[in-house]
Amino acid sequence: MHQDIERILLDEQEIQTIVARLGQQITEDYRGKELLVVGVLTGGVFFTADLVRAIQLPCTLDFVGVSSYRNTTESGELVMTKDLTLPVAGKDVLVVEDIVDTGRTLRRLMELFQRRGAASVKLCALLDKPAARKTDITADYVGKQVANEFLVGYGLDYAQQYRNLPVIGVLKPEIYDTKP
Ligand code: IMP
Ligand code: MG
Repeated sequence: MHQDIERILLDEQEIQTIVARLGQQITEDYRGKELLVVGVLTGGVFFTADLVRAIQLPCTLDFVGVSSYRNTTESGELVMTKDLTLPVAGKDVLVVEDIVDTGRTLRRLMELFQRRGAASVKLCALLDKPAARKTDITADYVGKQVANEFLVGYGLDYAQQYRNLPVIGVLKPEIYDTKP
């Protein structure tokens, strides 16, 4: 285990069990539809890469970059750091994210895809922190509900670090107490 991790929340096996379950559910629900999977950069890339391989349907794949307003105004508009390459009009869009926290960024993103004429827009989140929610957004597919602790690994970062850990763990509080 990494020295900065207090305890492991999900090991590699547990993550893959969740991915397989969600992939199976999505495969059943999207049969006959025009599925466009949209992974959210950067944290969502690992989960998206695993999830699409567990979806046994033809689908297209794209990524979007967004910046969230964690420390600033609550009403700030969506800032895209990378827009989609593919058009969403007429597509059944499935947004794939590592974790839903306040839900603000995702809500704006999903509204944007609706305005662009998507046939449907749903959300699949590996982790869900319902206690932190600031909007009425609910994920259509959730891997696991978690407490309001700071998690890293499998895409999740603290100050851009730890994304490459193969497990998801709780970061030791002294790490964010000592770093600027
Ligand atoms: P929100 O739901 O708009 O507040 O933003 C969710 C984003 O916040 C996620 O995509 C993560 O990038 C980040 N985030 C929320 N909770 C955690 C955590 O526990 N560890 C690492 N990143 C987190
Ligand atoms: Mg993120």
